[in-house]
Amino acid sequence: MEVLQLLRLLLTTAMLGLSQTVNPFVAQQTPPDPCYDESGAPRRCIPEFVNAAFGKEVQASSTCGKPPTRHCNASDPRRAHPPAYLTDLNTASNMTCWRSETLHHSPQNVTLTLSLGKKFEVVYVSLQFCSPRPESTAILKSMDYGKTWVPYQYYSSQCRKIYGKPSKATVTKQNEQEALCTDGLTDLYPLTGGLIAFSTLDGRPSAQDFDSSPVLQDWVTATDIRVVFSRPHLFRDLGSRDTGEEEGGTSSTPYYYAVGELQVGGRCKCNGHAARCVKDKEQKLVCDCKHNTEGPECDRCKPFHYDRPWQRASAREANECLACNCNLHARRCRFNMELYKLSGRKSGGVCLNCRHNTAGRHCHYCKEGFYRDLSKSITDRKA
Ligand SMILES: *[C@@H]1O[C@H](CO)[C@@H](O)[C@H](O)[C@H]1NC(C)=O
Ligand SMILES: *[C@@H]1O[C@H](CO)[C@@H](O)[C@H](O)[C@H]1NC(C)=O
Ligand SMILES: *[C@@H]1O[C@H](CO)[C@@H](O)[C@H](O)[C@H]1NC(C)=O
Repeated sequence: MEVLQLLRLLLTTAMLGLSQTVNPFVAQQTPPDPCYDESGAPRRCIPEFVNAAFGKEVQASSTCGKPPTRHCNASDPRRAHPPAYLTDLNTASNMTCWRSETLHHSPQNVTLTLSLGKKFEVVYVSLQFCSPRPESTAILKSMDYGKTWVPYQYYSSQCRKIYGKPSKATVTKQNEQEALCTDGLTDLYPLTGGLIAFSTLDGRPSAQDFDSSPVLQDWVTATDIRVVFSRPHLFRDLGSRDTGEEEGGTSSTPYYYAVGELQVGGRCKCNGHAARCVKDKEQKLVCDCKHNTEGPECDRCKPFHYDRPWQRASAREANECLACNCNLHARRCRFNMELYKLSGRKSGGVCLNCRHNTAGRHCHYCKEGFYRDLSKSITDRKA
């Protein structure tokens, strides 16, 4: 009885367009599927914005504490600085920091590698330091689980010398998928708590029209993020910075890198066909695909839904995959581009293995030697 009343309440509020004011208790009972509108029509849906790094493992090429020193002891929880501290819960009162070994030969690369476990659409990468910010830092991304790497952004007070990049470049539609080098954010001060924040779409012209920019859709896609600290700030730099003075590799001023938090802000990539990501049977993160799509990123059509090519959903069009029309006489079909073009880009599905003595693209003819029983519907087994 109570359930019925709830349903009725839901229906009336939905009809009156009052869904926002619906009692949260009622809303919890039947969570609406964001991938479909009130009338059941498909619409674009996207997973929530998260810190994709949170709780994930980071591989550091150097971590202090082994062997223990006065400041860092890996076997003493109160004085350990493991990479896990990069992605744990940080509060202002309890900032836990990863820390590299103390390095003597400058410059030496120290690398942090974070695997996100699947494709994400990255909006920003940020680092909060517990040491002074490095003089030169590179952020890279991989789209193939770490097989190949693409530079994302460089920070350096000597962009040209360290990374071979100009420090002031104009971003145009031609080069918006290229890494830039910024000479800000590399100041020695603050000595601790300094931030580096790279926003993937900032200043890129096609960001206004992200839906129709495959280049930028690709640019924000990453499975892994890598941060390379290439050069530290040496205190003797003070007063002699940017004088073009050759620093060489002979410095013996000890230094280390320390970071409190590595964040990767973004969304699980599902191409507009899922509102959330879930763990599969093998504990792998995958999209909870709707709109007759499947695959880790809802990047293909489900079997039997090949009537038009797969497409990413846009704000205007859900671009859901459509089932082939086989009049219930076939369970398999394939896509034919020529037929699709001939139909004015409407339908390209071709049914395979028509049963019940039917034939034709939609199993809508009779096989040779059979006749149509007009008293039965075309979808009837005995048609
Ligand atoms: C490091 O920590 C372990 C465990 O607390 C302790 O036994 C050891 O003496 C420490 N080493 C140094 C050098 O402080
Ligand atoms: C601070 O964080 C560390 C590591 O996450 C934890 O072990 C410790 O209990 C926290 N301390 C406080 C006071 O919350
Ligand atoms: C250090 O990192 C930079 C940036 O990724 C790279 O270009 C350079 O080759 C690395 N140097 C060494 C010695 O690995």
